[in-house]
Amino acid sequence: MKLAVVYSRACLGIEAPLVIVETHISAGLPGFTIVGLPETAVKESKDRVRSAILNSQFEFPTRRITVNLAPADLPKEGSRFDLPIALGILAASDQLPVQPLQEYEFAGELALSGELRAIQGVLPLALGSRKANRILMIPTQNAAEAVLPGDNRVLAINHLLEVHAHLTQQKLLSNYQAPIQSTAILTESEMDLAEIRGQMHAKRTLEIAAAGGHSLLMVGPPGTGKTMLANRLPSIMPPLSREEILEVIAIHSLIFTHTNTLIWGKRPFRAPHHTASATALVGGGRHPKPGEISLAHHGILFLDELPEFDRKVLEVLREPLESGTILISRATRQTQFPASFQLIAAMNPCPCGYLGDPKGNCRCTSEQIKRYCMRVSGPLLDRIDLQIEVPALSTENLSFTPNIQEETSIMVLERVKQAIEKQYQRSFKLNARLNNYDIQKYCSLKPADQNFIKNAIDKLNLSARSYHRILRVARTIADLMNSNSIETEHIIEALSYKKFLHT
Ligand SMILES: Nc1ncnc2c1ncn2[C@@H]1O[C@H](COP(=O)(O)OP(=O)(O)O)[C@@H](O)[C@H]1O
Ligand SMILES: [Mg+2]
Ligand SMILES: [Zn+2]
Repeated sequence: MKLAVVYSRACLGIEAPLVIVETHISAGLPGFTIVGLPETAVKESKDRVRSAILNSQFEFPTRRITVNLAPADLPKEGSRFDLPIALGILAASDQLPVQPLQEYEFAGELALSGELRAIQGVLPLALGSRKANRILMIPTQNAAEAVLPGDNRVLAINHLLEVHAHLTQQKLLSNYQAPIQSTAILTESEMDLAEIRGQMHAKRTLEIAAAGGHSLLMVGPPGTGKTMLANRLPSIMPPLSREEILEVIAIHSLIFTHTNTLIWGKRPFRAPHHTASATALVGGGRHPKPGEISLAHHGILFLDELPEFDRKVLEVLREPLESGTILISRATRQTQFPASFQLIAAMNPCPCGYLGDPKGNCRCTSEQIKRYCMRVSGPLLDRIDLQIEVPALSTENLSFTPNIQEETSIMVLERVKQAIEKQYQRSFKLNARLNNYDIQKYCSLKPADQNFIKNAIDKLNLSARSYHRILRVARTIADLMNSNSIETEHIIEALSYKKFLHT
């Protein structure tokens, strides 16, 4: 009898490909079939759509209803298609005009009452409908995220009746306007580097990590401030750019329905527990979802108690550490998620934690210590640019001394920003991302210094990869000192950020 076409979008990695919802109502025995949704989702969706239509005082057609979600081979998880299906039924049964539907895209879960509920993955959806030049109708709780692209049209809805009233021109909805946001919240709520007493060496390393995007491993007994240091890294990093914010929110929106905390441009800081599964860490599942490494995109992944993580899980980190993306392979398809994160890790020097403690409380055997350290593989360590010890402080060092003024995060951030600027002017990327070719081009050394590094690598029994790692770090140290050339002093300092776990 009649065919209605409604546009919506699916979720594929951080893409949102178009889904066409076709509804056909024909004579014959009453029935309601949905084609193109997975079996389990169909039944629940049918129940919600039917109740929402009836409870909104519309008629649920007692004829043959066939709904087809095309293309067939897209993964169509979730309840976001409730609204487009309900609208298709209303249009195919003459309770809504068919024509105006073409200007819109719809997504939203329906409650049995006809009210709309928030969904996940809204920003990719909004970017897709903007590109297609259609107006997006979305549950009100999702609207703030949907308008992030800035130049798209979004209508926020609370109930199926509102959608009907708008499309029949009885009561028009106006474009959703984002609430005014203040960026002041970012600086106020942040933890400051000045709260950490002493640990000058560790703070200097943190500054280098922030300036060059380098990964960092801190080794030291419990209670020396390793977690404090890691938590304060975002405070000495520049806020996200607008483009970065959109990328980060697109990923977070696949997991959370509310991504408001990210809107202030704060860098993500993810600290998964060491019991986290491989899927939780790198992503996956039947409908692949991003893991912690993708949630940490453009931000920090903090792995506390590094040797306690499953070794297999740690090995998976190697590839994204180099490429900045993760490819999740399933039998049917591959999904790629961005995962350009900065790895910060912490660990104890031995199983009991107190190796090297001045009070000498460690009772671990050398065999136990070796086994403990070996849980972090050589190839992973090779990808960690900065490796330092964070030793125990004496009690007088820890107690407050009014004449010692610790540097605040803002003071450090100024130097970091200057160094980042220098890197982007030279190579359009952070030093941690320099490949072997870049290193040849941008990290040239005086002949005497070349020999100096080679000797050091021989003497210290370092891997071939270490050579490049030392050069990258030396480049960042030079940038922090606003020096165009890499000098001997920069190399000497770079060589000091090396805790020899495996020797
Ligand atoms: N250098 C420091 N300056 C100030 N407080 C510190 C310092 N080191 C440790 N602390 C105190 O000890 C607590 C534990 O520190 P934490 O960072 O969790 O240590 P770790 O991660 O090395 O075990 C902190 O909450 C803080 O109160
Ligand atoms: Mg800790
Ligand atoms: Zn010990």
